[in-house]
Amino acid sequence: MTLIDGKATAATIKAEIKEEVEKIVQAGGKRPHLAAILVGHDGGSETYVRNKVLACEACGFESTLIRFEDDITEQTLLECIEQLNNNADIDGFIVQLPLPRHINEQRIIEAIDYRKDVDGFHPLNVGRMAIGLPCFISATPLGILTLLRRYDIPTSGKKCVILGRSNIVGKPMAQLMMQKQYGDATVTVCHSRSENLREECLKADIIIAAIGKPGFVTADMVKEGATIVDVGTTRVPDASRKSGFRLCGDVQFDEVAPKCAYITPVPGGVGPMTICMLMLNTLSAAKKEFYK
Ligand code: GUN
Repeated sequence: MTLIDGKATAATIKAEIKEEVEKIVQAGGKRPHLAAILVGHDGGSETYVRNKVLACEACGFESTLIRFEDDITEQTLLECIEQLNNNADIDGFIVQLPLPRHINEQRIIEAIDYRKDVDGFHPLNVGRMAIGLPCFISATPLGILTLLRRYDIPTSGKKCVILGRSNIVGKPMAQLMMQKQYGDATVTVCHSRSENLREECLKADIIIAAIGKPGFVTADMVKEGATIVDVGTTRVPDASRKSGFRLCGDVQFDEVAPKCAYITPVPGGVGPMTICMLMLNTLSAAKKEFYK
């Protein structure tokens, strides 16, 4: 069994990005600049955004954090997005999700200029991705593809089961894994209503678990020699930790790992890659790689 080290892979890629940025700057170019909008004080979102700002530093990017309280109006948020759309110094930006209930999340996402949508959540990027056109690919699926590539894990013609159908992970992951230029795999998507879920998983060469149910994937669901990618990051209360919680994946790691050819741990697997891919998308945005 080989442990897929997302932390080390992300560190390598961030160093590669920094090297490229310094070359751009030395040649008289501009440092990539990422802005993040954070609404409210959700613990998870605070951590994610802090880590995104730190990753910008590691990559030699400029970063700007824009904070609003929970009671911000949708109109004010839309105005802020409009300013970022029109600010030539900002190459890309993200609005950290989830947003308070009184704000229409989809309206916010669609207000972002798709050429600066480094999260890849705008319907134009989602649609372009689905038909294989150049676009921003959302960070978690792109991180998973990158891990599979860097570890030389064969995907072409393999059977891949994706657990979960979210807009952020399950759906884009299925699109990418089926496309010839990315995964080139035979893809099955399972979710909370799927019948025969265990049987589907047992046939899989690759399982990508993104359902947000701690320990959902057990050893009896996994074929010998399979590759397991665990996207779960549920916060489970743990009084022995300073933070008061620990991160729990969707896979029963201890019993599943011995059966696997490759497996990602939680933490240290997919998580660090997600932020790293946001950096890669920001670099692409700064280089105007997809949209001139
Ligand atoms: N909330 C959870 N994941 C993400 C992400 O990748 N981007 C944004 N903007 N919000 C999130």
